Amino acid sequence: MSISKLQIQHVRNISSISFEPSSAINIICGENGSGKTSILEAINLLGLTRSFRTSKARHLVQNEQQSSVVFASIDPLGHGLKQSLGVERPIEGEARVRYEGSDIDISTLAELIPLQVINSDTFMLLEGSPAIRRQFLDWGVFHADKAFIQLWRAFKRVLKQRNTLLKCGKIDNQLRQVWDREFVAFSDQLTRLRKEYLSLLKPEFEKVVSQLLDDMHIELGFSCGWDKKRELDEVLSNNFERDLRQGFTGSGPQRADIRLKVDGHNAAERLSRGQKKLVVSALKLAQGALFQRMNSRPCIYLIDDLPSELDSQHGELFCKVLEQSSNQCFITCVDDSSLKSYWHPQTDIATFRITDGNIALPM
Ligand SMILES: Nc1ncnc2c1ncn2[C@@H]1O[C@H](COP(=O)(O)OP(=O)(O)OP(=O)(O)O)[C@@H](O)[C@H]1O
Ligand SMILES: [Mg+2]
Repeated sequence: MSISKLQIQHVRNISSISFEPSSAINIICGENGSGKTSILEAINLLGLTRSFRTSKARHLVQNEQQSSVVFASIDPLGHGLKQSLGVERPIEGEARVRYEGSDIDISTLAELIPLQVINSDTFMLLEGSPAIRRQFLDWGVFHADKAFIQLWRAFKRVLKQRNTLLKCGKIDNQLRQVWDREFVAFSDQLTRLRKEYLSLLKPEFEKVVSQLLDDMHIELGFSCGWDKKRELDEVLSNNFERDLRQGFTGSGPQRADIRLKVDGHNAAERLSRGQKKLVVSALKLAQGALFQRMNSRPCIYLIDDLPSELDSQHGELFCKVLEQSSNQCFITCVDDSSLKSYWHPQTDIATFRITDGNIALPM
């Protein structure tokens, strides 16, 4: 998967720019506030119809404008095809996605454009709530198994219905058993897919993390969302009174989490800032490597301010991992001179300088 042409209109300080990225490494450099992150945000809009910085479109859309628009020529399977994709995000209302002249929905778009973002928010994979790690895990399961999305939607529906009943306070025992049976059936299937995916991700993660952080043993574990030594139906029965008091279901895949440990300790509490950046990046890079293995096509990586937090040795290792993959990467930095020496001379690199929302031709 790669983008061969990109046209961005009315995204933050960008009025209108158009450029042809490299299918390998793209470096976007410029001063603070010049619009580097906005370019990544525009690509994220193209892949997911939303920003990674704000949930409010009025911040993303350029002042005085009504909508942000991103057009691209894409080659989804890397066969040299050029297909047209356009996303319009108005300040009010739904985003519109056009692919080869037809409207498509968001899950079709997400399948088409496998995007990975590495930015300062990625630290939340270690430091943030389990919901963020579940989202990371489910990105992988979504792309690994066609059955996932239907299953996940069905599970969410049953969970919502069970919680609505719990909030009512009074539940007929037979009705509860009917809902619990469905809840358990979906939970078991969902958990099986998550476990299968993690068992494939683990060796990929170990490989990348050993390249980036020599001498450190980081363990990736999984917690399914309930006491794994017991069956979920038994857990639901035992915890029913508590669920009723709380008004929601306290056990199940909606509480799943992944755990990262370094020498047996919680990684979030032990690692330095730079080490954290490398570990969360390794998670994302491992996911991309596994995606490629399973789907025979690479991902698009948006990496905001790659050099930040990293010394030159680790910055170089990071770049080495990127150039060994066949992902299309969009990397921002204030000053590209720090990155210049990190790449192999044969790597296809395009550098774009951005000033006040305008892009110069590759340097
Ligand atoms: N809705 C908007 N309309 C117009 N301009 C905006 C809007 N939102 C933000 N801006 C401006 O757009 C510019 C681009 O910001 P962006 O975050 O892309 O910069 P950057 O190059 O990534 O900077 P840094 O190096 O500080 O991360 C900023 O000057 C910002 O003030
Ligand atoms: Mg920025």
